[in-house]
Amino acid sequence: MGGRAVRFPSGLQIVAGPDLARNLSGMPKPALLVTCAVGFEDLVRGDLREQHDLRSTQVGPGDIALEGFSPVATFGPMIDRVAVALDPALGTVAALAAVDWSAVLDVAGGVRFRVHLPGEDQPRQQLIEAIEAGLGWRNEPADWMVNVDVARHRAELGPWSWAARFGSLRRLPATTPGPVAAGLIRLAKARTGDHLLDPCAGVGTVPVIDGLTRDGSTTAVDVDANSVAIAADNVAALNLSGRVKVLQGDATALDLPAASVDRVVTDLPFGKRVGSNEINRTLYPAVLREIDRVLISDGRCVLLTDDKRVFADSAARARGLKIVAERVIRYNGVTPTAYVLTRSRRTRRG
Ligand SMILES: C[S@@+](CC[C@H](N)C(=O)[O-])C[C@H]1O[C@@H](n2cnc3c(N)ncnc32)[C@H](O)[C@@H]1O
Repeated sequence: MGGRAVRFPSGLQIVAGPDLARNLSGMPKPALLVTCAVGFEDLVRGDLREQHDLRSTQVGPGDIALEGFSPVATFGPMIDRVAVALDPALGTVAALAAVDWSAVLDVAGGVRFRVHLPGEDQPRQQLIEAIEAGLGWRNEPADWMVNVDVARHRAELGPWSWAARFGSLRRLPATTPGPVAAGLIRLAKARTGDHLLDPCAGVGTVPVIDGLTRDGSTTAVDVDANSVAIAADNVAALNLSGRVKVLQGDATALDLPAASVDRVVTDLPFGKRVGSNEINRTLYPAVLREIDRVLISDGRCVLLTDDKRVFADSAARARGLKIVAERVIRYNGVTPTAYVLTRSRRTRRG
């Protein structure tokens, strides 16, 4: 029986169940929940509607329920995790039994699961045994396909998590989560063929995702040698060396010609984990000056920071750039703002 295989640029493959359409007709459809960074829900829902004709409802901060079901290929990089909603009116085992798992997983080799029920050892063990007996699934906490999240009435699909769809990146503590980087790229509206620059690229999350999802070129710059080495590894591991160039350099003195960049997307040092507020007072104006130099006349930049006052002051003083939109994002306990900037005056096109 042929499953529906979806191949991603990273070479990973996911089988979304044999004869998807037939399985779904006449059965109660699994209500799929997708999660994203808080603040990007409207972008995710807009893409699902416009690109895949999928209707959705926001059911909580960063939580979106899909009215229809669709293959994994519809879940773009702003989507972090995909889960099946479990009917809270049923017990957990009955709710799991009510779902047609073959529609969302390759169940041929059996389903491996784990149970998320923190601090409740005995009830968790009982539930594990009930799931094993009732559904014939195997409890494999280290290599699960389904994470049964009891309190949130959902079963997360490990094979549909971000890393399974787009590849695992080597990370550092200040690394931008992939779905957040994808949202920033989305705000930049980069076109086919555009040259995108990330001047504080760290391990290269923004350039890698841009390289995976768009035809064009990307330059990743970071001042830190270790970050640059990891970025180079990430680019090579995902076969993006032809599209993404990694350079060690200073965002305030880039080795790039004037008017050579169409889009700038970066997660700036917030001054907490990386740098300090004091450093940002000189860093931010200098980075904005350099962006002003390398950006084309109708360019656009998306800059993320939690050091909002220093950024707003710096942007207000920047000669050639102005803030045209702001969006507060929430993920991993931080609430930075993504600032969108365009030129404040027309300059000669490069
Ligand atoms: C928030 S982190 C970026 C994280 C990155 N998006 C990632 O996913 O790894 C900020 C980065 O700015 C870099 N940085 C700080 N000052 C810099 C400068 N003057 N020029 C270039 N990079 C700089 C730091 O080394 C750090 O990697």
